[in-house]
Amino acid sequence: MADELIESILNESRSFAPPKDFIDQANIDEEKVNNLKKQAKENHIQYWATLAKDQLEWFQPFKNILDESKAPNYEWFNDGVINASYNSLDVNASKSPNKTAIIFETEDGKSEHITYKELLSKTSQFANGLKKLGVEPMDRVVIYMPMCPEAVIAMQACARIGAIHSVVFGGFSSNALKDRIEDAKSKIVITADGAYRGGNIIPLKQATDEAVSQSSYKVENVVVFQRTGEKIEFNEKRDVWWRDLVSNCDSNCDPEPLNAEHPLFILYTSGSTGKPKGIQHSTAGYILHAKTTFSWVFDIKNDDVFWCTADVGWITGHTYVAYGPLLAGATILIYEGAPTFPDVGRFWDICEKHAVTIFYTAPTAIRALMKHGDEIPQSYDLSSLRLLGTVGEPINPEAWMWYHRIIGQERCPIVDTWWQTETGGAMISPLPGITETKPGSCTTPMPGIDVDIVDELGEPVGEANQGGYLVIKKPWPSMLRTIWGDNQRYIDTYWEKFDGRYYVAGDSAYRDEDGCHWIMGRIDDVLNVSGHRLGTMEVESALVANEMVAEAAVVGRPHEVKGESIFAFVVTKGERPIGEDAKKMQEALREWVAEQVGAIAKPDEIRFSDNLPKTRSGKIMRRLLRVIARDEAITQDISTLEDESIIKQLQGED
Ligand code: PRX
Repeated sequence: MADELIESILNESRSFAPPKDFIDQANIDEEKVNNLKKQAKENHIQYWATLAKDQLEWFQPFKNILDESKAPNYEWFNDGVINASYNSLDVNASKSPNKTAIIFETEDGKSEHITYKELLSKTSQFANGLKKLGVEPMDRVVIYMPMCPEAVIAMQACARIGAIHSVVFGGFSSNALKDRIEDAKSKIVITADGAYRGGNIIPLKQATDEAVSQSSYKVENVVVFQRTGEKIEFNEKRDVWWRDLVSNCDSNCDPEPLNAEHPLFILYTSGSTGKPKGIQHSTAGYILHAKTTFSWVFDIKNDDVFWCTADVGWITGHTYVAYGPLLAGATILIYEGAPTFPDVGRFWDICEKHAVTIFYTAPTAIRALMKHGDEIPQSYDLSSLRLLGTVGEPINPEAWMWYHRIIGQERCPIVDTWWQTETGGAMISPLPGITETKPGSCTTPMPGIDVDIVDELGEPVGEANQGGYLVIKKPWPSMLRTIWGDNQRYIDTYWEKFDGRYYVAGDSAYRDEDGCHWIMGRIDDVLNVSGHRLGTMEVESALVANEMVAEAAVVGRPHEVKGESIFAFVVTKGERPIGEDAKKMQEALREWVAEQVGAIAKPDEIRFSDNLPKTRSGKIMRRLLRVIARDEAITQDISTLEDESIIKQLQGED
């Protein structure tokens, strides 16, 4: 399969040189990049130290660069003192106070501009409010908010006072929120009375109430931002309105001087077990990579309007909404609602309305909008766009070409950025004024990032077009520091496979003869559904938590728009349901999973059988289930299968 995939991509492969106009104005030229790469190669550690001195404002400069004494818990710049919010807001508010930091577009089409000066003052005021509630450095604060400026303000306010934020995507259920509150032991939850999405109101406060009341960890306060004006339950002892909290607060708040290694945030992501892992990032290392990659990959200029469509609930929304652009003093656009509201032209309407110059989104969104044809984007003025980006999953060449021709009008380079929650920022990506791009390839590593592809024994595959494990050979400043509360899991997940020699990304990849990287997908039981990472075990645990379910196995199946869809095989406790009963139970289980995890985890298909295919030693034959889910012919040996007769049920024929 992997070989066929490689071959088909290679056959179709074309490359696109950056347009001359773009090269002429690009921030970073070939000479500069070669220089950076040379410095990194000659002295990896010194390279990062120079960048950290040049790019960041330190309260106390560092002398230590990389501390490997506790490897793989690497530390960077660990005797330096710094603050992420100071570097984002104070630095830029003093340079250009009246520059727009955030353009906010609401779902019902209103917009608002917030300058750097205003953003600094709102953030400081809210930071003082958090202090009033007793929030101290190292306290955890869960943020469960709509996509609005206050979500960014809440993050920046935490960073300002040294509290560790943990943003939970607003599409996650109350149960998923509760798990994260408990794991992080969060003192405070910041939420809103609701979020506008696709013409509906998502009841975030109600979900928060459920999560907080069921949490075994006692949340002290819930801060509620009024976004919709909907009626909500209000617990006078515990809840506090955002506006009341800030009403008497000073709009100056000195940024807390923090150690470079102070945890900036925890962000939960899926792994190959049922329990999401809290990826912990540091302060200085993270903001360094966020700022530099933002400036290089997106070629940012003073008058750019940068729009990253990701929600702040995901890492992309952390690095390329809440931190990178603000560290670089850029103007960002934040859109609150759904891409299809009121119609499928909404993204392009926003690009035209706010003269967006740089647009960054996920392949799944491109594929979903591409389905509606060329006429819709062609009916908008997209001439302001000068650069396009993608992230989150491999982009199929067809979607790439559509993005290039119809959205970029063959004028805009496309940066396909490969990275992960764990890596903190872009790792492999074109630099738009330099790199020749190929549809479907994320091309070459960033300066200072040492990527390789290795075989089962950890030896570099060497040869072009040879698939293997994607690894990162040297520590880099924005790498995750640990998994919150479970350092052993950190070691086991990312380092154990090759005895601590490399960071193992969990993706398989190959490099072609031009040195371009092609990501082939995950090597673990992690699915990529609409650019979001989901563990098969997470969905399985949710299914088996239902009293009607005895066993469940979940696999991914390729999907035209979502990249992958979720296919669940379920064994029920009673009789196997058929006909109408099966339909009813499928719907009930889909809703159940949405309640347990969130709508993104709803299985697209559920098939019931009397048993799951297991080897005689009792292991579920996942490979076989993947073949069945894809409707492919079974060619593998099934002689070890305990009960061959269930194959027909699994294929849906019985
Ligand atoms: O499999 C890779 C895929 O998304 C995974 C990381 O997911 P997450 O931590 O949720 O972060 C997504 C946003 C940075 C990776 O292990 N992935 C991410 N970007 C790309 C990609 N696959 C192919 N091409 C990409 N550009």
